[in-house]
Amino acid sequence: MQNKINDLLKKVGEFSPATMAEIEDFRIKILGKKGELTALFEEFKTLSGEQKKELGKSINELKNKALNKINELKEMLDKGSDDACGEIDMSRPATESAIGTRHPISLVKNEIVGIFSRLGFTTAEGPEVEDDWHVFSALNFPPEHPARDMQDTFFIERNPDILLRTHTSSIQVRVMQNSRPPIRVVCPGRVFRNEAISYRAHCIFHQVEGLYIDEKVSFTDLKQTILYFAKEMFGEETAIRMRPSYFPFTEPSAEVDVSCNLCGGKGCNVCKGTGWLEIMGCGMVDPNVLEACGIDSKKYSGFAFGMGVERIAMLKYGVKDLRLYFENDIRFLKQFEAIY
Ligand code: DAH
Repeated sequence: MQNKINDLLKKVGEFSPATMAEIEDFRIKILGKKGELTALFEEFKTLSGEQKKELGKSINELKNKALNKINELKEMLDKGSDDACGEIDMSRPATESAIGTRHPISLVKNEIVGIFSRLGFTTAEGPEVEDDWHVFSALNFPPEHPARDMQDTFFIERNPDILLRTHTSSIQVRVMQNSRPPIRVVCPGRVFRNEAISYRAHCIFHQVEGLYIDEKVSFTDLKQTILYFAKEMFGEETAIRMRPSYFPFTEPSAEVDVSCNLCGGKGCNVCKGTGWLEIMGCGMVDPNVLEACGIDSKKYSGFAFGMGVERIAMLKYGVKDLRLYFENDIRFLKQFEAIY
């Protein structure tokens, strides 16, 4: 009897089925009414008390092993079919993986840089954490200018000479310090201002600064360059107008408007009935700025301009709330991939 138990133990140990049907056959053959183990138990009943004592433990062990093995095998095959390990349908379409799209601000920034690169402007970048000199002093800001106020600018607490740049004009200072005219450069980048967040203002946004320095650069060059940009960006029919303005770093200074591309200049709620939309500030570089950056203001002159990327993107696509650009809602962001 012990030999029979051992043989059956071996059989159970070696059993390795491929299908559920095989497991069921095996179960019937071993544990079924006419199964081998059932027969062994019948035989067990006929043994003497002494023999029962001797073999009881091993026959029960055999029964448990057989039951466990069958249950384990069933579970394994079940799982296998869930994982599609059993039968794989090679013709099934694969699950699509979502591919990201470029952010609309990056797309518009690239477009701005691209337009100026066709006029021979190269690109320069600079640090976001700057010092007072590059952001204000070199650009002719007087010591008491309100931009130097904590209400407007983020200063580093431990050293108020260090701050987050409030405009990308700081890059033009670095470019002028490090190169000689002719200079033709656009400077894209992120800027920071201590502003409450609303539909039209944010404490972080993007600008593109432009700078052109050479002998005999005039206001006419500035106007023609901006007109070219406006037509490339907003369409051939776009007109521009310049209004006198003030910036410490340019003299004379102007603000540039483009004709409203939504109403064609007739007046609508986007242009508030005026037919014009403001897009940038510009002017002739103040001789003080040229001198501060080591450029001879008697020999050279130049123009500069600066625009907000979010503003250009809002005007171009009729986006009414600036915050949409920062919330990263995929439904908003995805709409721009089709345009480019
Ligand atoms: N830096 C100005 C600003 O942040 C924008 C600007 C205006 C830049 C006139 C210029 C310029 O270069 O000439 O509002």
